[in-house]
Amino acid sequence: MSFLDKVIAAVTPPESEETRLEARARARAEATAGGWFALVIDHHERIEEAFAAVKSATGAEARRDAQQRLAVLLTGHSNAEESVLYPALADSGHKTHAGMAYEEQAMTKIQMALLENLDPLSHDYLDKLEHIRGAVTHHMYQEESDWFRELQAQVPGSHQAHLAQRFQEEMDRYVGPPGGERGVFFTSTGTQTPAP
Ligand SMILES: [Fe+2]
Repeated sequence: MSFLDKVIAAVTPPESEETRLEARARARAEATAGGWFALVIDHHERIEEAFAAVKSATGAEARRDAQQRLAVLLTGHSNAEESVLYPALADSGHKTHAGMAYEEQAMTKIQMALLENLDPLSHDYLDKLEHIRGAVTHHMYQEESDWFRELQAQVPGSHQAHLAQRFQEEMDRYVGPPGGERGVFFTSTGTQTPAP
């Protein structure tokens, strides 16, 4: 296991699946309908589906295609968070959480790039994929159970709509319009649709 694998393995979820499901249900219940937190949770569910699709893909080409869709989702979602939500987190008195969030997503970007160098049908590939999935799962749990609940509670109501609009804009900017060439996009309701 490489140094980077050890680093990412160290953040593999300490919390149980049951704890994560409870946190998601609470976040869903608290998230303002149509707001930025609801969009975040939509994205997280699509990301979980995309990880599962990579793992279950049969054949090298199908797995690479699924990996590409996962990479587009992860990059689009993380860029939007890093451009809009983490600055808001830092600005509302949570610089440590914001710093940790940036660092975890940077590590995921490194690992996703390294994944591209591995044989998609190899054991090493599935091992690295599982490490990335574990780290991303824990990161999403931190956002849903703690960081973003605090942010939603602390940001003034007048600023919430602005954050939602900016977050959606940044996601769309990377993931692209319906029918685009990047293989996946989100509608305003968070629905993932494969491009034709
Ligand atoms: Fe997130």
